Amino acid sequence: MYYCSRSQSRTAFIDRIQSSNYSQNVNLYFDDANDGVKLNVREALSDYSEGDHLYVCGPTGFMDFILAEARNAGWPEKSLHREYFAAKLESQSNNRGFEIQLASSGRCLTIPEDKSVAEVLLEEGIELPMSCEQGVCGTCLTRVLEGVPDHRDSVLTTAERARNDQFTPCCSRAISQRLVLEL
Ligand code: FES
Repeated sequence: MYYCSRSQSRTAFIDRIQSSNYSQNVNLYFDDANDGVKLNVREALSDYSEGDHLYVCGPTGFMDFILAEARNAGWPEKSLHREYFAAKLESQSNNRGFEIQLASSGRCLTIPEDKSVAEVLLEEGIELPMSCEQGVCGTCLTRVLEGVPDHRDSVLTTAERARNDQFTPCCSRAISQRLVLEL
């Protein structure tokens, strides 16, 4: 585990981490430390083996840097996992309406430009597991059987997006006029 932060006093869970059984496997880096020691990202990511997984969490710029370094070092996309602190701000100005169809019943619902798929589903009494409602956590991921989603989440990888077989109804929309959902 590599943990970078501005200063020790602002490092969340530091006491629990340092008193844990795995503390010897934790590498801490503080911007304001005078030891001059910085995380050598290239070195930390240089030894990928089949089955390794990388989990990264933090500010967007930091995460993008770490993920780019991992790709350069040969880590496959399927081994890269990320959790954003907050969703990227997506402009809603070019939203347009579209239609969803529920595969189980054939029922069609109109999604107006000012509402999300999740909002319309909930209004219609259709249950959907949700948590962040910003496209960050992946709780609402729903299978897409037909149509092309307009992915606006921060959860799916580039390869997962390209498959167009799932999307996050809390924030994602549609490029095609209709999406058929496994609901
Ligand atoms: S509820 Fe978190 S991604 Fe949709």
